[in-house]
Amino acid sequence: MGRLPLFPEQASTFAPDVDHLLFFLVAVAAFFTLAIFAAIFYFAIRYRRRSAGELPREQHGGLALEILWTVIPFGLTMVMFTWGADIYFRESRPPDNALQVYVVAKQWMWKLQHMEGKREINELHIPLGRAVKLTMTSEDVIHSFFVPAFRTKQDVVPGKYSTTWFKPTKAGKYHLFCAEYCGTRHSGMTGWIYVMEPRDYANWMRGGEPSESLADDGARLFKELACANCHKADNTGRCPSLVGVYGSTVKLTTGGTVTADEAYIRESILQPNAKIVAGYAPAMPTFQGLVTEEGVLQLVEYIKSLGGKPAAAEGAH
Ligand code: CUA
Repeated sequence: MGRLPLFPEQASTFAPDVDHLLFFLVAVAAFFTLAIFAAIFYFAIRYRRRSAGELPREQHGGLALEILWTVIPFGLTMVMFTWGADIYFRESRPPDNALQVYVVAKQWMWKLQHMEGKREINELHIPLGRAVKLTMTSEDVIHSFFVPAFRTKQDVVPGKYSTTWFKPTKAGKYHLFCAEYCGTRHSGMTGWIYVMEPRDYANWMRGGEPSESLADDGARLFKELACANCHKADNTGRCPSLVGVYGSTVKLTTGGTVTADEAYIRESILQPNAKIVAGYAPAMPTFQGLVTEEGVLQLVEYIKSLGGKPAAAEGAH
Protein backbone atom coordinates (compact mmCIF):
# COMPACT_ATOMS: atom_id res chain seq x y z
CA MET A 1 0.00 0.00 0.00
CA GLY A 2 2.97 2.31 0.66
CA ARG A 3 3.67 2.48 -3.08
CA LEU A 4 0.28 4.04 -3.84
CA PRO A 5 0.67 7.80 -3.47
CA LEU A 6 -2.90 7.97 -2.13
CA PHE A 7 -1.87 5.91 0.88
CA PRO A 8 1.29 7.25 2.46
CA GLU A 9 3.27 5.14 4.89
CA GLN A 10 1.90 4.62 8.38
CA ALA A 11 4.61 6.09 10.59
CA SER A 12 2.85 7.25 13.76
CA THR A 13 0.58 5.72 16.38
CA PHE A 14 -2.37 7.65 14.89
CA ALA A 15 -1.84 6.46 11.33
CA PRO A 16 -3.54 3.02 11.62
CA ASP A 17 -6.45 4.52 13.62
CA VAL A 18 -7.08 7.25 11.05
CA ASP A 19 -6.82 4.75 8.17
CA HIS A 20 -9.26 2.28 9.76
CA LEU A 21 -11.81 5.05 10.23
CA LEU A 22 -11.29 6.22 6.65
CA PHE A 23 -11.75 2.68 5.30
CA PHE A 24 -14.94 2.32 7.33
CA LEU A 25 -16.33 5.60 5.92
CA VAL A 26 -15.38 4.60 2.37
CA ALA A 27 -16.92 1.14 2.83
CA VAL A 28 -20.21 2.57 4.15
CA ALA A 29 -20.36 5.13 1.32
CA ALA A 30 -19.51 2.49 -1.33
CA PHE A 31 -22.09 0.03 0.03
CA PHE A 32 -24.93 2.57 -0.06
CA THR A 33 -23.88 3.97 -3.44
CA LEU A 34 -24.05 0.46 -4.94
CA ALA A 35 -27.26 -0.39 -3.08
CA ILE A 36 -29.00 2.78 -4.34
CA PHE A 37 -27.87 2.22 -7.93
CA ALA A 38 -29.03 -1.41 -7.81
CA ALA A 39 -32.38 -0.41 -6.32
CA ILE A 40 -32.94 2.27 -9.00
CA PHE A 41 -32.30 -0.27 -11.76
CA TYR A 42 -34.43 -2.94 -10.11
CA PHE A 43 -37.40 -0.64 -9.43
CA ALA A 44 -37.20 0.95 -12.90
CA ILE A 45 -37.68 -2.47 -14.45
CA ARG A 46 -39.97 -4.06 -11.87
CA TYR A 47 -42.43 -1.13 -11.74
CA ARG A 48 -42.27 0.00 -15.36
CA ARG A 49 -45.54 1.08 -17.02
CA ARG A 50 -46.89 -1.99 -18.82
CA SER A 51 -49.89 -0.45 -20.62
CA ALA A 52 -50.70 3.11 -21.70
CA GLY A 53 -53.61 3.65 -19.28
CA GLU A 54 -52.07 1.91 -16.26
CA LEU A 55 -52.44 3.68 -12.88
CA PRO A 56 -50.25 2.76 -9.90
CA ARG A 57 -51.77 1.44 -6.71
CA GLU A 58 -52.00 4.13 -4.03
CA GLN A 59 -49.56 3.88 -1.10
CA HIS A 60 -50.22 5.27 2.40
CA GLY A 61 -46.80 4.98 3.99
CA GLY A 62 -45.17 2.07 5.80
CA LEU A 63 -44.26 2.59 9.45
CA ALA A 64 -41.85 -0.34 9.65
CA LEU A 65 -39.94 0.88 6.59
CA GLU A 66 -39.71 4.45 7.92
CA ILE A 67 -38.41 3.30 11.30
CA LEU A 68 -35.87 1.08 9.56
CA TRP A 69 -34.45 3.83 7.36
CA THR A 70 -34.25 6.20 10.31
CA VAL A 71 -32.66 3.83 12.81
CA ILE A 72 -30.00 2.35 10.49
CA PRO A 73 -28.50 5.71 9.34
CA PHE A 74 -28.73 7.01 12.91
CA GLY A 75 -26.77 4.02 14.20
CA LEU A 76 -24.18 4.32 11.45
CA THR A 77 -23.65 8.06 11.94
CA MET A 78 -23.32 7.57 15.71
CA VAL A 79 -20.59 4.99 15.09
CA MET A 80 -18.82 7.51 12.80
CA PHE A 81 -19.26 10.27 15.37
CA THR A 82 -17.94 8.39 18.41
CA TRP A 83 -15.10 6.79 16.44
CA GLY A 84 -14.05 10.14 14.96
CA ALA A 85 -14.45 12.01 18.26
CA ASP A 86 -12.30 9.42 20.04
CA ILE A 87 -9.42 9.93 17.57
CA TYR A 88 -9.91 13.69 17.60
CA PHE A 89 -9.70 13.89 21.38
CA ARG A 90 -6.62 11.69 21.52
CA GLU A 91 -4.96 13.81 18.82
CA SER A 92 -5.70 17.04 20.68
CA ARG A 93 -4.32 15.91 24.05
CA PRO A 94 -0.53 15.62 24.09
CA PRO A 95 0.82 13.37 26.85
CA ASP A 96 2.64 15.13 29.71
CA ASN A 97 6.00 13.52 28.95
CA ALA A 98 6.02 14.67 25.31
CA LEU A 99 9.13 16.23 23.82
CA GLN A 100 8.46 19.95 23.24
CA VAL A 101 9.22 21.58 19.92
CA TYR A 102 8.27 25.12 18.95
CA VAL A 103 7.26 25.94 15.38
CA VAL A 104 7.08 29.38 13.79
CA ALA A 105 5.71 29.46 10.26
CA LYS A 106 6.22 32.34 7.86
CA GLN A 107 5.95 32.91 4.12
CA TRP A 108 7.41 30.48 3.10
CA MET A 109 9.32 28.45 5.60
CA TRP A 110 9.09 26.42 8.79
CA LYS A 111 11.31 27.52 11.67
CA LEU A 112 11.64 24.98 14.47
CA GLN A 113 13.26 25.32 17.88
CA HIS A 114 14.09 22.51 20.29
CA MET A 115 14.02 23.08 24.04
CA GLU A 116 17.77 22.50 24.16
CA GLY A 117 18.14 25.48 21.84
CA LYS A 118 18.82 23.70 18.57
CA ARG A 119 17.14 25.42 15.61
CA GLU A 120 16.13 23.97 12.29
CA ILE A 121 14.62 25.30 9.10
CA ASN A 122 12.27 23.12 7.03
CA GLU A 123 13.67 20.08 8.86
CA LEU A 124 12.76 18.45 12.12
CA HIS A 125 14.79 15.70 13.77
CA ILE A 126 12.95 13.65 16.38
CA PRO A 127 13.61 10.39 18.21
CA LEU A 128 11.72 7.21 17.40
CA GLY A 129 9.03 6.07 19.84
CA ARG A 130 8.81 9.32 21.77
CA ALA A 131 5.72 11.54 21.79
CA VAL A 132 6.46 14.98 20.31
CA LYS A 133 4.33 18.02 21.08
CA LEU A 134 4.43 21.01 18.75
CA THR A 135 3.46 24.49 19.91
CA MET A 136 2.99 26.51 16.75
CA THR A 137 2.32 30.04 15.62
CA SER A 138 2.68 32.09 12.44
CA GLU A 139 4.40 35.40 11.74
CA ASP A 140 2.07 36.32 8.88
CA VAL A 141 -0.83 34.32 7.45
CA ILE A 142 -2.45 30.97 8.20
CA HIS A 143 -0.32 27.95 7.37
CA SER A 144 -0.98 24.30 8.16
CA PHE A 145 1.49 21.71 9.45
CA PHE A 146 0.80 18.49 7.55
CA VAL A 147 2.76 15.24 7.78
CA PRO A 148 0.85 12.63 5.74
CA ALA A 149 2.83 9.68 7.12
CA PHE A 150 1.80 10.70 10.65
CA ARG A 151 -1.81 11.57 9.60
CA THR A 152 -1.24 14.91 11.35
CA LYS A 153 -2.61 18.19 10.05
CA GLN A 154 -2.97 21.29 12.22
CA ASP A 155 -3.54 24.90 11.20
CA VAL A 156 -0.87 27.38 12.29
CA VAL A 157 -2.59 30.68 12.95
CA PRO A 158 -1.04 34.15 13.44
CA GLY A 159 -1.75 35.70 16.82
CA LYS A 160 -2.29 32.47 18.75
CA TYR A 161 -0.71 29.17 19.65
CA SER A 162 -2.03 25.92 18.29
CA THR A 163 -0.71 22.54 19.35
CA THR A 164 -0.53 19.08 17.92
CA TRP A 165 1.37 15.93 18.77
CA PHE A 166 2.40 12.58 17.36
CA LYS A 167 4.43 9.53 18.29
CA PRO A 168 6.53 8.19 15.41
CA THR A 169 6.62 4.40 15.10
CA LYS A 170 9.09 3.99 12.25
CA ALA A 171 12.52 5.49 11.62
CA GLY A 172 12.79 7.28 8.30
CA LYS A 173 12.38 10.51 6.42
CA TYR A 174 8.87 11.88 5.94
CA HIS A 175 7.44 14.76 3.96
CA LEU A 176 6.22 17.90 5.71
CA PHE A 177 3.78 20.04 3.73
CA CYS A 178 2.03 23.35 4.22
CA ALA A 179 -1.62 22.44 3.75
CA GLU A 180 -3.15 25.92 3.74
CA TYR A 181 -2.79 28.21 0.73
CA CYS A 182 -0.52 30.97 2.00
CA GLY A 183 0.69 32.87 -1.06
CA THR A 184 2.88 32.58 -4.16
CA ARG A 185 5.30 29.98 -2.88
CA HIS A 186 2.86 27.95 -0.80
CA SER A 187 3.62 24.85 -2.85
CA GLY A 188 7.31 25.21 -2.01
CA MET A 189 6.71 25.44 1.73
CA THR A 190 7.73 21.87 2.37
CA GLY A 191 10.25 20.09 4.54
CA TRP A 192 11.33 16.79 6.00
CA ILE A 193 10.77 15.08 9.32
CA TYR A 194 13.67 12.80 10.26
CA VAL A 195 12.68 10.07 12.71
CA MET A 196 15.90 8.71 14.19
CA GLU A 197 16.87 5.86 16.50
CA PRO A 198 17.20 7.37 20.01
CA ARG A 199 21.00 6.96 19.99
CA ASP A 200 21.37 8.66 16.58
CA TYR A 201 19.10 11.40 17.81
CA ALA A 202 21.25 11.98 20.91
CA ASN A 203 24.33 12.19 18.67
CA TRP A 204 22.58 14.60 16.35
CA MET A 205 21.52 16.75 19.29
CA ARG A 206 25.12 16.90 20.56
CA GLY A 207 26.57 17.63 17.14
CA GLY A 208 26.92 20.96 15.37
CA GLU A 209 27.49 24.29 17.04
CA PRO A 210 26.85 24.34 20.76
CA SER A 211 23.60 26.16 21.42
CA GLU A 212 22.02 27.76 24.43
CA SER A 213 18.72 26.38 25.67
CA LEU A 214 15.53 28.20 24.76
CA ALA A 215 15.16 29.36 28.35
CA ASP A 216 18.71 30.81 28.28
CA ASP A 217 17.91 32.65 25.05
CA GLY A 218 14.76 33.91 26.77
CA ALA A 219 16.75 35.07 29.81
CA ARG A 220 19.07 37.08 27.56
CA LEU A 221 16.12 38.66 25.76
CA PHE A 222 14.50 39.41 29.14
CA LYS A 223 17.61 41.37 30.06
CA GLU A 224 17.95 43.09 26.65
CA LEU A 225 14.37 44.31 26.76
CA ALA A 226 14.89 45.51 30.34
CA CYS A 227 11.91 43.52 31.57
CA ALA A 228 13.65 43.02 34.92
CA ASN A 229 13.48 46.74 35.68
CA CYS A 230 9.78 46.33 36.50
CA HIS A 231 9.32 42.57 36.94
CA LYS A 232 11.52 42.11 39.98
CA ALA A 233 11.80 38.58 41.32
CA ASP A 234 11.19 39.70 44.93
CA ASN A 235 7.95 41.45 43.91
CA THR A 236 9.14 44.96 44.81
CA GLY A 237 8.83 46.25 41.23
CA ARG A 238 6.04 48.15 39.54
CA CYS A 239 4.93 44.93 37.85
CA PRO A 240 4.19 41.48 39.26
CA SER A 241 7.04 39.05 39.87
CA LEU A 242 7.13 36.29 37.28
CA VAL A 243 8.54 33.63 39.62
CA GLY A 244 6.12 30.73 39.77
CA VAL A 245 3.58 32.51 37.60
CA TYR A 246 3.46 29.83 34.88
CA GLY A 247 0.49 27.54 35.38
CA SER A 248 -0.86 29.62 38.27
CA THR A 249 -4.26 31.28 38.46
CA VAL A 250 -3.90 35.04 38.10
CA LYS A 251 -6.44 37.51 39.54
CA LEU A 252 -7.33 40.38 37.23
CA THR A 253 -8.53 43.94 37.84
CA THR A 254 -11.82 42.99 36.20
CA GLY A 255 -12.46 40.56 39.08
CA GLY A 256 -12.00 37.52 36.86
CA THR A 257 -9.12 35.08 36.79
CA VAL A 258 -6.96 33.56 34.08
CA THR A 259 -4.62 30.56 33.98
CA ALA A 260 -1.11 31.68 33.13
CA ASP A 261 -0.47 29.37 30.17
CA GLU A 262 1.61 30.00 27.05
CA ALA A 263 -1.20 31.93 25.35
CA TYR A 264 -1.67 34.26 28.35
CA ILE A 265 2.06 34.98 28.62
CA ARG A 266 2.24 35.71 24.88
CA GLU A 267 -0.72 38.08 25.09
CA SER A 268 0.76 39.84 28.12
CA ILE A 269 3.96 40.55 26.17
CA LEU A 270 2.29 41.73 22.96
CA GLN A 271 -0.90 43.30 24.35
CA PRO A 272 -0.08 44.05 27.98
CA ASN A 273 -3.30 45.99 28.57
CA ALA A 274 -5.61 43.15 27.53
CA LYS A 275 -5.54 41.60 31.02
CA ILE A 276 -4.23 43.66 33.95
CA VAL A 277 -3.23 41.80 37.12
CA ALA A 278 -5.29 42.90 40.15
CA GLY A 279 -3.46 45.50 42.23
CA TYR A 280 -1.30 46.80 39.35
CA ALA A 281 -1.58 49.79 37.03
CA PRO A 282 -1.48 49.30 33.24
CA ALA A 283 2.16 50.43 33.11
CA MET A 284 3.66 48.04 30.59
CA PRO A 285 4.34 49.14 27.00
CA THR A 286 3.54 46.74 24.18
CA PHE A 287 6.37 44.69 22.71
CA GLN A 288 4.48 44.10 19.47
CA GLY A 289 6.98 44.56 16.64
CA LEU A 290 9.94 44.55 19.04
CA VAL A 291 10.00 40.81 19.67
CA THR A 292 9.60 38.14 16.99
CA GLU A 293 7.31 35.17 17.57
CA GLU A 294 10.47 33.11 18.13
CA GLY A 295 11.58 35.63 20.75
CA VAL A 296 8.17 35.43 22.45
CA LEU A 297 8.51 31.64 22.63
CA GLN A 298 11.96 32.04 24.19
CA LEU A 299 10.54 34.45 26.78
CA VAL A 300 7.71 31.99 27.49
CA GLU A 301 10.29 29.23 28.07
CA TYR A 302 12.31 31.54 30.34
CA ILE A 303 9.23 32.40 32.41
CA LYS A 304 8.38 28.68 32.64
CA SER A 305 11.90 28.00 33.88
CA LEU A 306 11.25 30.40 36.80
CA GLY A 307 9.04 27.73 38.35
CA GLY A 308 5.37 26.98 38.52
CA LYS A 309 3.26 23.98 37.70
CA PRO A 310 2.37 23.16 34.11
CA ALA A 311 -0.94 24.62 32.99
CA ALA A 312 -3.67 21.98 32.91
CA ALA A 313 -5.05 22.98 29.54
CA GLU A 314 -2.19 23.99 27.31
CA GLY A 315 -2.65 25.58 23.94
CA ALA A 316 -5.83 26.73 22.32
CA HIS A 317 -7.85 24.86 19.74
CU1 CUA B 1 2.35 28.07 4.24
CU2 CUA B 1 0.86 27.30 2.54
